[in-house]
Amino acid sequence: EKRTKIQEVLAREPIGEELTLMGWVRTKRASKNVAFIALNDGSTINNIQVVADVEQFGEEVLKKVTTGASIAATGKLVASQGAGQSCELIAESIEVFGEADPEKYPLQPKKHSLEFLREIAHLRLRTNTFSAIMRVRHSMAFAVHQFFNDKGFFYINTPIITSSDAEGAGEAFKVTNFELDAIPRNEEGGVDFKKDFFEKEANLTVSGQLEGELAAMALAEIYTFGPTFRAENSNTTRHLAEFWMIEPEMAFYDLKDNMDLAEEMLKYLVKYALDNCADDLAFLEKRAEEEDKNKPQTERAEMTLTERLKFVLENDFERVTYTEAIEILKRSKPNQKKKFQYLIEEWGADLQSEHERFLVEKHFKKPVILYNYPRDIKAFYMRQNDDGKTVGAMDILFPGIGEIIGGSQREERMDKLTERMKAMGIPVEEMSWYMDTRRFGSVPHSGYGLGFERMIQFVTGMGNIRDVIPFPRTPGNCEF
Ligand code: 4AD
Ligand code: MG
Repeated sequence: EKRTKIQEVLAREPIGEELTLMGWVRTKRASKNVAFIALNDGSTINNIQVVADVEQFGEEVLKKVTTGASIAATGKLVASQGAGQSCELIAESIEVFGEADPEKYPLQPKKHSLEFLREIAHLRLRTNTFSAIMRVRHSMAFAVHQFFNDKGFFYINTPIITSSDAEGAGEAFKVTNFELDAIPRNEEGGVDFKKDFFEKEANLTVSGQLEGELAAMALAEIYTFGPTFRAENSNTTRHLAEFWMIEPEMAFYDLKDNMDLAEEMLKYLVKYALDNCADDLAFLEKRAEEEDKNKPQTERAEMTLTERLKFVLENDFERVTYTEAIEILKRSKPNQKKKFQYLIEEWGADLQSEHERFLVEKHFKKPVILYNYPRDIKAFYMRQNDDGKTVGAMDILFPGIGEIIGGSQREERMDKLTERMKAMGIPVEEMSWYMDTRRFGSVPHSGYGLGFERMIQFVTGMGNIRDVIPFPRTPGNCEF
């Protein structure tokens, strides 16, 4: 038999046609004469009800049809009287592919907590919540490529194994081919990388930006979209050790051009989700609302999922300098700000996510682009402003998330860049390949990085970043 997808059946509703559905049983209700099987096949959040005559199929077959079992059901599609469904399948034959012993199968036909599902991450994709998230994730990845392709950008694959640490934050995972119990040592007792596979220190990339800049010097407008790795030991709901990043890099763009592109892209992605993921978003919105009901009043979300998406779509992002933001944070009223103030003692401090969320959710009530950050809290490659203390950096802040994008105009002047690298203790000679972008045919250019999982969190309303990637990698968690 040829499989027809449930998504297609519901879109077309071919009443009277003979079809074969293949999928996994969500629930089975049986009365004396008929069994009602809710079948899901992953193509959509919606199930189709399969109706099976108890006498015709017999106990032997129907007792294998339990939650989690996989079946093929062939029969005729008929209009349904039941509430909440337009059609159902009257089964003529049922084949059970694989049983799922109800005594052992961890997913029961009830609501499981996200914490429990994280413990069985190898099975959680089979739940409504996680399959909905993964369909949205797929659509967002597709939309990213669509957006850049329509604009004539080229997709560049930057290396995952590299010897550079773009962000210079010392959070790179080492890559070695050493036997752990026989690490060769050099004369000083340090690791002798000359004896390892790459004959030098190698690590997993923290960002494709530096290689992206090389490509932008040839193709002008490029983007990367790949996995990046950070060994930051931060157990938060916003950090993963392995996450995906989208990094466009554009020759001839200044900081304002960079902001314009980022804002346009974020709005495009949100609109794409609203236009293409309606069923899954409706399900996720309802899920979030139910979850919220169990929380104390003060912790409940101020906007529904749809309201938050429209908040991004319908507002011009507020563009504010870091210096203005610090003034706002200092001035904000003590009672509502207590928890914000203590960290903002002076100009030069990095913002915490509470500050970022205060600016977005309480003060401006719009997505915010903060720019011109203090030079000393930002990466070496950012373009120095004339004031001698700030750089052309920009972070985009979203409600419920905080920083979703980080980017900058790049320092294209060889002398300024060299000076800055030396001041930060970055070995300029070892980065000669990067310096060639400035040495030959250097141009003003800019770029940014969008954290893909933070974007998926925003679009799905999921509170924990571990729940928007199929197999999360966090400190102490690398099971399968
Ligand atoms: O601000 P970041 O560190 O910027 C860069 O890596 C630049 N090289 C980007 C560029 O200009 N091409 O990271 C960019 C974004 C952050 O705004 C955040 O959304 C996400 O990547 N991000 C993480 N997401 C999940 N887990 C982590 N540990 C993340 N670290 C950063
Ligand atoms: Mg950042």
